[in-house]
Amino acid sequence: MDELRQAAAKAADLMADHLERVGDGPVWQPVPDGDRAWLTTQQMPERGRPLDQLLDDARSRIMTHPMGNGHPRFFGWVNSPPSPAGAVFEPLAAALNPSCAGGDHAGPLLERTVVRWLAGLVGFPHPPGGGLLTSGASMATIVCLAGARQRATLADGWDAREDGLSGHPPLILYVSAEGHSCLHKAAQLLGLGARQVRTVPVDSHYRMDVAALRSMIAADAAAGLRPFCVAASAGTVNSGAVDPLDAIADVAAEHGLWFHIDGAYGALGILADGAAPAFAGLDRADSLALDPHKWLGVPVGCGCALIADPAATRAAFSLVPSYLVDENADDLGWFAEYGPEQSRPFRALKTWATLSHLGRDGVARLVDHTTGLARTLASMVGDAGDFELLAPVTTSITAFRYRPEGAQARDGDGLDALNRAIPAAVQRRGNAFLTGTRLGGTDALRTCILHPDTTEGDLAVLLDEIRAAAKDLSR
Ligand SMILES: Cc1ncc(COP(=O)(O)O)c(C=O)c1O
Repeated sequence: MDELRQAAAKAADLMADHLERVGDGPVWQPVPDGDRAWLTTQQMPERGRPLDQLLDDARSRIMTHPMGNGHPRFFGWVNSPPSPAGAVFEPLAAALNPSCAGGDHAGPLLERTVVRWLAGLVGFPHPPGGGLLTSGASMATIVCLAGARQRATLADGWDAREDGLSGHPPLILYVSAEGHSCLHKAAQLLGLGARQVRTVPVDSHYRMDVAALRSMIAADAAAGLRPFCVAASAGTVNSGAVDPLDAIADVAAEHGLWFHIDGAYGALGILADGAAPAFAGLDRADSLALDPHKWLGVPVGCGCALIADPAATRAAFSLVPSYLVDENADDLGWFAEYGPEQSRPFRALKTWATLSHLGRDGVARLVDHTTGLARTLASMVGDAGDFELLAPVTTSITAFRYRPEGAQARDGDGLDALNRAIPAAVQRRGNAFLTGTRLGGTDALRTCILHPDTTEGDLAVLLDEIRAAAKDLSR
């Protein structure tokens, strides 16, 4: 046990050293050839190596090549730094190493509490058993849409699980043009077929156009198809836009559609000062994906599917062979009956620790701070002569582009090509990290601010880095 204790202490130091210093170095650097070769081509040792040596490898060859998301000037995709509580408690979950499929032990019991807390944070209804932790929002979306599919087919007198989907009117899913790719992947995986996913246009603020949704549903129903689900976004990945949830809930109720919300990144935005009205209707959804591993900083991977009617999800997944029957289970049964995973990691521990360490107040402060910075960045962009804001800020994402003075045309000056090249050029410089996208028909830069230590000064550095990268590119 001495080796274990010493190694655990050394690992704790390594973790703390990393978190203490990660903001001092470059945000990201390419992995040099030597370490790349070591990382990718090393042979498995014939004989086991001591933990102490492995930790030396971790210090010199692994911790030295982070993705960058621990740094306050990392603004790429939707990737947060780890919460300190998450980093401390993740090893304890590994030490216990349960499967949280179900059973009478701390893992599944704590998961009930964590799911209830997450629902409570955003004001989503929470019946007993109303949700489960998943690997991320992609899996949460599969869980939610499977429930939607099962409810629709049972209501129509057939059973997708028994019958498969052929020989019945195609099930139609509605997703806005700004909906995340995980919605499309889930539809494909569930056998709906990409052609049965309708792309609903968005308005000038990148929110789902509800009138268009209405007429698309009517046209599909008139053509003998089976509209069954609308998936809205509470925080799109491109611009952080929140769809008009209340109006979409009305349409879903009118047409008997399952109302799903992808709030993987943005649902917690409801906690920012004055933000609640933009999220009105969130509590009317049948399901909501909300990722603890995004804004909360719970170590990857931890998503959550919140479900208003858990029976629909159980109907979609429950399959209990004799070797898994648990005579002592309560009425809710096992978590494994509500999703595709049988063995399930102890995701609740790092999430419980993160939520408990922050408290409701701390979560709200984090959301408010980062949302405020996104607005500040939008003002800085608006005030600068060489940037252009591309979308209003609703959460902590700012979408904009570089437009050097004198360049007026939408793309006549090669602005698209320039903005497409800027993210990689900024990343290479190592002082900030952002990623790009296509928004409203143009190439855009976007930042997603999730780090509690990011400051206004960091935003000024980012804009200067973009200018410098543009100069590098023009050489
Ligand atoms: C809005 C949104 N939805 C869904 C996802 C997919 O989440 P995950 O990567 O956890 O599967 C993301 C990922 O960034 C996202 O930003």
